[in-house]
Amino acid sequence: MTVSPTASSASALGVGAQVLNWADQLAGHSDHPAGLTVGYLTRAHQTTAAEIAGWMIEAGMQVDIDAVGNVVGRYVSPDPAARSLLTGSHFDTVKNGGKYDGRLGILLPIAIVSRLHEHQIKLPFHLDVIAFAEEEGVRYRTSFLASNALLGSFDMNWLKAADEDGVTMRDAMRAAGLPATEASIRDLQRDATQTLGYLEIHIEQGPVLLERGLPLGIVTSIAGGVRMMAVVDGVAGHAGTTPMAMRRDALAAAAEMALAVESRCAQAPSLVGTVGILSVPQGASNVIPGRCRFSLDIRAADDATRDEAVDDVIRVCNAIARRRGVTLALEPTMRVPCAPCAPPLMAQLAASLERTGVTPFQLPSGAGHDAMMMARLTPAAMLFVRCGNGGISHNPLETVAAEDVDLAGLVFLDFLRNFRP
Ligand code: GLV
Ligand code: MN
Ligand code: MN
Repeated sequence: MTVSPTASSASALGVGAQVLNWADQLAGHSDHPAGLTVGYLTRAHQTTAAEIAGWMIEAGMQVDIDAVGNVVGRYVSPDPAARSLLTGSHFDTVKNGGKYDGRLGILLPIAIVSRLHEHQIKLPFHLDVIAFAEEEGVRYRTSFLASNALLGSFDMNWLKAADEDGVTMRDAMRAAGLPATEASIRDLQRDATQTLGYLEIHIEQGPVLLERGLPLGIVTSIAGGVRMMAVVDGVAGHAGTTPMAMRRDALAAAAEMALAVESRCAQAPSLVGTVGILSVPQGASNVIPGRCRFSLDIRAADDATRDEAVDDVIRVCNAIARRRGVTLALEPTMRVPCAPCAPPLMAQLAASLERTGVTPFQLPSGAGHDAMMMARLTPAAMLFVRCGNGGISHNPLETVAAEDVDLAGLVFLDFLRNFRP
């Protein structure tokens, strides 16, 4: 297989256009006709999985859709004693998300495997491309469900969780043709001794590479996050007759809490806090909100900074609730510690970047990724690819350039061909 070692002729590989084309095709499967929304195990999720599985088979992989819906393609090594190098990312999306978040890290490895297969190039290890079924935590608020299953840490209580329409995860699994049994999920646990490492390719989802004029970056560590759902209970009442001083408005209290999150989380450089869901159940324009639900997502580059902020936010929100005569209930839905990437894999990635003619540049990840869970099983690393459009992500305006994807493909190929466990 002839592949130019220089960045200037990276397009010789020609995978960028194919990957973008595949991403466009996948974006045709959505839970809603407007925009791209793929929740865990919806019909669109299943058709996306089937399409990915088909491309994996065409690329020369053995493919299995596992008990939680992960699509796992293996490029089998001829070595009977071979262990596995893992790569991949997620194919579920946020509501009205972008086409490349997660999917790039599935499609680019498939394209590279298809080139290896075409040229009958075998690897001394199995290469498992894992299309993770759930990472975003949108339908059941169970972020990283898919990678948790591979770690043996899938919480069986999740099977009882219900989505917005009251459909339990167990029923969604059955409807998708999965066994929906605890034993089948437990069986997915990977053996660390058979695993050589995990490398995830992902769009940066931010502006750093774009602003520096760099196509690729090596991730140093992945910020940890805490998520909670909050329920504020006040008193519903008549919007026309209740004087302002006599109200216990749940939404007004929640709004003050959201502003408190914003101001506390502006106090440290890597700290960020977001209220991304806010709803007034059974709200009406002429009723004072009696109940308000909102979500909290707080992250930082180190666990101590984040946890101090979480404690402060909880204290301040409780004080707001007391002063306003409402109650606040907080339910934790996720706590993931910060995950440093593995220096030996980062060094191999840097060598691949140099051989490809790209200056190695390191940056932290503010977004969460399957890699932060897989790092509990095996050494993990990440390659970021520059985003266009100011680095916007979790937005339909998310873009990536075919040339940058080509370059990432060259780096990945070089990494595979030189990989030393
Ligand atoms: C995943 O997209 C995250 O929330 O960081
Ligand atoms: Mn995402
Ligand atoms: Mn992602």
